[in-house]
Amino acid sequence: MQVKNISINRIKIKRGRRVANKERVLEIAESITTIGLLHPISVNKQYQLVTGRHRLEAYKKLGKKTIPAITTEKGLKADLAEIDENLIRQELSVLERAECLQKRKDIYETMYPESIKRGPGRGHKETNRTKFVSFTADTSNKTGSGRRTIEHVVQIANNIPPDLKKMILKSDLANNKNELLHLARLDSKLQNRVVKIRLKNDDMTIDEIVKDLLVKKRVRDRERDRKKLLSNSASKSDDIRLYHGDCRELFPGIIKALKKESPDADIIVISDPPYNIKFAGYDKYSDNLPDAEYIKMMKMFRGLPSAIIQYPEEMMSLIYPALGKPDEVLAWCYSSNISRAFRLINIYNTTPDYNMVRQPYKNPKDKKVKKLIKHGSSGTTIYDWFADLQLEKNVSKGKNSHPCQIPVALMERLIILLTKKNTIVVDPFAGVGTTGSACRLTGHRFIGIEVSKKYYQLARNRLLNI
Ligand SMILES: C[S@@+](CC[C@H](N)C(=O)[O-])C[C@H]1O[C@@H](n2cnc3c(N)ncnc32)[C@H](O)[C@@H]1O
Repeated sequence: MQVKNISINRIKIKRGRRVANKERVLEIAESITTIGLLHPISVNKQYQLVTGRHRLEAYKKLGKKTIPAITTEKGLKADLAEIDENLIRQELSVLERAECLQKRKDIYETMYPESIKRGPGRGHKETNRTKFVSFTADTSNKTGSGRRTIEHVVQIANNIPPDLKKMILKSDLANNKNELLHLARLDSKLQNRVVKIRLKNDDMTIDEIVKDLLVKKRVRDRERDRKKLLSNSASKSDDIRLYHGDCRELFPGIIKALKKESPDADIIVISDPPYNIKFAGYDKYSDNLPDAEYIKMMKMFRGLPSAIIQYPEEMMSLIYPALGKPDEVLAWCYSSNISRAFRLINIYNTTPDYNMVRQPYKNPKDKKVKKLIKHGSSGTTIYDWFADLQLEKNVSKGKNSHPCQIPVALMERLIILLTKKNTIVVDPFAGVGTTGSACRLTGHRFIGIEVSKKYYQLARNRLLNI
């Protein structure tokens, strides 16, 4: 390539090219004065500038009349050189760089179609392919960027549609590679919604927005299923089954039949077992099993997903030997005049999905919170967990003549945290059917077993109106 000194006056600048950065021009002018021009500029045969906008401006600034230049062929090669020039400039945002790389890829692969990596199909000649450097390798050599970075940036350019790029261009998102990449990997319908939310909430990440939308969708689906179920009165009673008897005799057979009848459904035991403290207030039941018998009874639930309320806490000496160390322990704390105002809930063989329960925002007037609410957020991940739920007192609304009745809302929250749509909830110590009431609200199938005839009848009245 021959370098000639050409007259600066003859050089034309294509309309629409970016304006030179004044500071950069001064820096280059200074360097030219001390060490001279290291790289000549390039022009096409019509003297249109291809590369070297800043160098040209620096020469003008220094009052020079000519500049060393090489002449490139007009066409794809010149376009490629112009793009390469742009790509090494610092001030391009990631999105602008993505656009440049996409153009470069188109041009490069038009010029060198053999560089496109293809599978070894029929007629494919390995020797041809290996002669040409791939677009990624070539760009990496020219720009100094890593190949992986180039692939990611091209992915951003290819997968974000032009209208969204336009919306993003002036926002902070345009220069956030990880966020753009995350966006590029989303389904196109979701991309649109996510960008709209993100542009109004610049403190939210794409990941947070996607998770929020996902939770909202799950809650909507659940609500829809629940409404469908409740509007279907036939399935309402089909879905609630109550058995009167001792769970030690009934439970194994019920589970076996259930697995046969609904092989695809999940089963979970959610229960508030007797306290074994010689509590005299129960109807019929003595609440005083020998330890070994109590442990044997609890062992029936071993291996099944379960949430077992452990109350009082010393029941751990019977529950742990039966079921082992829990995978998680939740605490329901409430107000009471006794010192031990809490109950532990042992979780086995399943994991609560804490995103399923949202708590109303405590500061709905806060600017950021207002925005979230405006975009449909129903609340924050709960941080008080069960602290908003109080004991059922004798005077409480909903009290149904059981001395140890627990709030429906507690069981409802556990069900939401621990089940899927088709999970069947089993409470082998059903009392007056509190877990069943919660299942009516969440739309889950319920099986309850209760040894006391009185409580069983009350549960039937409460759940099945019979
Ligand atoms: C702590 S209470 C559960 C109260 C229930 N959570 C409610 O809100 O109604 C325990 C219940 O288990 C029942 N129970 C005790 N042993 C049982 C057994 N072997 N089979 C079935 N039910 C039993 C008792 O009669 C009592 O109603």
